[in-house]
Amino acid sequence: MSPKSGVAKLEKNRIIEYICKLVSIIMAKITKSAAKERIEALSEELRRHNYNYYVLNAPVITDFEFDLKMQELQALEALYPDLVLPDSPTQSVGSDIEDKPVEKVNGQTETNKSFLSYSKIKDENRGFEQIPHKYPMLSLGNTYSREDMLAFCNKIEAENGEMLEYSCELKFDGVAICLTYINGELKRAVTRGDGVKGDNVIDNVLTIKSIPLHLKPGDWPREFEIRGEIFMPWSAFETLNKEKEEIGEQPFANPRNAASGSLKLQSSAQVAGRGLDCVLYHMLGEDLPFTTHSEAIAAAARWGLPTSEFSQVRRGAADVMDYIEHWDSRRKTLPYATDGVVIKVNSLALQKRLGFTAKSPRWATAYKFKPEQALTRLLSISYQVGRTGAVTPVANLEPVPLSGTIVKRASLHNKDQMDLLDIHIGDWVYVEKGGEIIPKITGVEKAKRPDDAARPDFPTLCPDCGTPLVRDPEEARHYCPNRTGCPTQTKSAFVHFASRDAMDILAGDATIDQLYDNNLIRRLSDLYRLTKEQLMPLEGWQERSCDNFLASLEKSKSVPFERVLYALGIRHIGKTTAKLLAKHFPDIDALAAAGEEQLAQIDAIGSIVAASISAYFADPENRRLIDELRGFGLKFTGSGASQKVSNLLEGKSIVVSGVFSIPREDLKAMIEANGGTATGSVSGKTSYLLAGDKPGDAKMKKAAALGIEVIDEQQFYNMIGR
Ligand code: IVH
Repeated sequence: MSPKSGVAKLEKNRIIEYICKLVSIIMAKITKSAAKERIEALSEELRRHNYNYYVLNAPVITDFEFDLKMQELQALEALYPDLVLPDSPTQSVGSDIEDKPVEKVNGQTETNKSFLSYSKIKDENRGFEQIPHKYPMLSLGNTYSREDMLAFCNKIEAENGEMLEYSCELKFDGVAICLTYINGELKRAVTRGDGVKGDNVIDNVLTIKSIPLHLKPGDWPREFEIRGEIFMPWSAFETLNKEKEEIGEQPFANPRNAASGSLKLQSSAQVAGRGLDCVLYHMLGEDLPFTTHSEAIAAAARWGLPTSEFSQVRRGAADVMDYIEHWDSRRKTLPYATDGVVIKVNSLALQKRLGFTAKSPRWATAYKFKPEQALTRLLSISYQVGRTGAVTPVANLEPVPLSGTIVKRASLHNKDQMDLLDIHIGDWVYVEKGGEIIPKITGVEKAKRPDDAARPDFPTLCPDCGTPLVRDPEEARHYCPNRTGCPTQTKSAFVHFASRDAMDILAGDATIDQLYDNNLIRRLSDLYRLTKEQLMPLEGWQERSCDNFLASLEKSKSVPFERVLYALGIRHIGKTTAKLLAKHFPDIDALAAAGEEQLAQIDAIGSIVAASISAYFADPENRRLIDELRGFGLKFTGSGASQKVSNLLEGKSIVVSGVFSIPREDLKAMIEANGGTATGSVSGKTSYLLAGDKPGDAKMKKAAALGIEVIDEQQFYNMIGR
């Protein structure tokens, strides 16, 4: 069986199986009571998946499976219209607003665990102003079938008696956003929310370089809305996930989740570092001077707005199908994720005539590409201990070809995921590549489960050192708490310490293993005690390699503070955070002395990071290590202290919000340079709220409630004598 035919056959089988199920519902005229039960179950299930997808950014099923379930519900509802539930998922769009669904799903016992474990996401999402949409923000009808696409075009053309123009576009896999420009200036950037109202995330959107605050001079209407997608290109996604893995955080499942999670961060400075991008594809307003959709988008491009270079106007169904064909394979070469194409009737007058259903426009639809999957056998599960002690289950598979490579291993993420899949050793499993480095298991073919298939026991002890594992209450992962005594964790800490972006010492995995196995290193400081006499007798070491290695150790003593801080391997402290801390604190003593609360006040440092730093310095072992490393001459003092220009803002904590004549980051740097602290959120400890144009509504309200003085840009300059 060739790889391609295997994959194609698998998809075909699943689709045929599904169609048979739908047909059987219709033909067998499923009894009304059975239909009622199934409608209720499917509605509840789809609501839960919507919540996982839109609010938690952590879907547990693929889009394909979701769409199949939705189609089943639609088929049943069409059969028994009187059974349609008032809040049926077929009648409304999924909501990204976190409050409402939490109450709903908390009643569920099955998934309670995972919802509770995400309570921190809910916490971090607080504080966006909710704004009603002027025009409801709907979704799109979609299909995986080319016949349906043909039927979509043919039906509209038959009704109109002529061949029509369609705007054919890529379907970007990101987060929908609605921008409002008034007098050429960006005034609001609102997420889809529940379709009726969404969160104003303008501060975060302003960090996206391709979105202009001011439009280029042109014939733009006084007020209009333009909608589109905020997405994370593959390169930014890979960098972010690598960094997350390095600091012991759970990586994002795909770029869409990463974009959505990033857009809802509380700190714009942090969002700015996430590499988000945007493409706009739908303009709305009163009396817009256009007759076609493509004209409107071309005008938007002239005004400086980001639009897609790949949208094309095509005539008639055959030409539309040609566009679909073209992108089905080409899309893999794009630097961002797409999950299909969108076909829109180009004439705005006809769009108006066709109108909307409760959930989507009748003038547009999406053709979705089927994800490439493979079916193979699960041979065993290994449990890997990472640098931070996180234990990750990895599936060992019967090798199978998928999208050009042979897949032998796949991630199972954590115990919750294993339970959700109800995976057994010996099962036939579906493997998919979602853009991650390691492919993932997305489903189990239960019908093929062998009789002797056994449910795996997640280990209770560390597979490496035997210490009882603990489950982090904030995350779904299990950890080995033996940070200093667990061989894998210790070795990984050395590898991280020596890595190029950290201390840049000439020692990779093999050298660290060898030094560890020969009892030469246990604590990071042991590296600086190594001598040529100890190294020379070891296998593979020669005069020259010894000299080079020792020279690299010597050189590492001049590595700047920010890299030393990163090298220590404090949980949640990646390169960016280490840089930020080294800028903020003159030396490691000041950092160690900072309380958790003080740390959390720093823009871009959340409560989890603050707690991790505090816990690290609270451990006398770590303090002893730092003293030893300092004794060897490593740099624990930064250049931040020397950048100070005055103490005029000594003891003052200032929150910056809105748009200013200079970048916000520059204002924050000025605060720090004058002895103050730039913080991210307004609290009782805030001295001033420095407000520019369009400051965050929530921040202004909180400042007013707490009686905190609000100053403008000029008043700030006066304060620092500028
Ligand atoms: S048009 C009235 N065009 O896909 C509907 N949507 O699954 C306007 N999407 O909600 C949407 N690429 O978030 C449109 N070229 C494109 C798109 C696109 C991605 C998203 C959008 C929509 C979702 C539906």
